[in-house]
Amino acid sequence: KEIKTESELFTKICETFVKEIEHFKFSWIGLVEKETFRVRPVAHAGFEEKYPYSVEIRWDESKYGMGPTGMAIKEKRPFIVNDIENDPGYSPWRKEALKRGYNSSAVFPLLHEREVVGILNIYSEKKDAFQGDEVEFLKEAALDIAIGIRSLRLEKELEKTVEELERTTEGIIWTIAKIVEAKDPYTSGHQRRVASLSRALAEEMNLPREQIKGVYMAATLHDIGKIYVPAEILTRPGRLTETEFGMIKTHPQYGYNMLKDVEFPWPLALAILQHHERLDGSGYPQGLSGEDIILEARILAVADVVEAMSSHRPYRPALGVDKALEEIETNKGKLYDPDVVDACVKLFMEKKFKFEHYLEDDPSC
Ligand SMILES: [Fe+2]
Repeated sequence: KEIKTESELFTKICETFVKEIEHFKFSWIGLVEKETFRVRPVAHAGFEEKYPYSVEIRWDESKYGMGPTGMAIKEKRPFIVNDIENDPGYSPWRKEALKRGYNSSAVFPLLHEREVVGILNIYSEKKDAFQGDEVEFLKEAALDIAIGIRSLRLEKELEKTVEELERTTEGIIWTIAKIVEAKDPYTSGHQRRVASLSRALAEEMNLPREQIKGVYMAATLHDIGKIYVPAEILTRPGRLTETEFGMIKTHPQYGYNMLKDVEFPWPLALAILQHHERLDGSGYPQGLSGEDIILEARILAVADVVEAMSSHRPYRPALGVDKALEEIETNKGKLYDPDVVDACVKLFMEKKFKFEHYLEDDPSC
């Protein structure tokens, strides 16, 4: 199992020591708290009742900071006590340690960027347990643990950066979407509703989180190419001439051209290019068929049609969700991806999916 968090890593390490080396009776790891000069135990293995959680372990100049743990932190080096019974420095902890059957102990600092971030404590039932090779091996182990901490922390930081970048990208996408919306109010509400249905479809189909996001972002911009189509054609009531319809049909290509050179973490340009393609090859602009059309575009196609038929348009009143579902069911496997159609019908019939309305922005509501 992959170790994902520090506490998983620490517990695993403590368990391994106690399990693999017979005379190691107890092991614990503590994190160094800078502000309070305390050491916070975060993992342990072996028989213990309350120790070390019940005792005060510090690394300041008080008597609680003078033990092996405090010293290991302050001096950034291992501290070994091979005879707990007779070691003069161990007196504050002697009674409790002997009671538990510990006769020697070793503390190793865990260093991250030259600072002690934690400590590894091991107790043995044997006297003189920590000698020569064993100490070298444990020092090595402490180094490995520190590397583990480092990489987990770096990974966390990286995750945060990626998340921030993703949020910025989303912000930019919303801004671009507003450009089309400003020109064509019908497209505005349409893109948002198609986006919310597309996301619901991707979720219903159990796609990975990142792909769901990609579908949502592509849908948010899917008609961006319409900014190249004259507004009079987009909003004109009545039937369009062939030439006018031809102009509208350029929008997937224009959308693709606009976005193809931007490096998004999702295939936005391609999904936009293909959102009017149909499974049997009857769509445009390339007449692609089947799986040559990417899944994102196959999802978009269904969401687009269902939303368009459910909403009012300048040239016709709304046909309604029932008509829209009838259309995709009739052409399931012919024009539309069967899995997407199934997910869509389930969403509306069983899960009572409803388009959100945007009264302020969208005159079609
Ligand atoms: Fe479109």
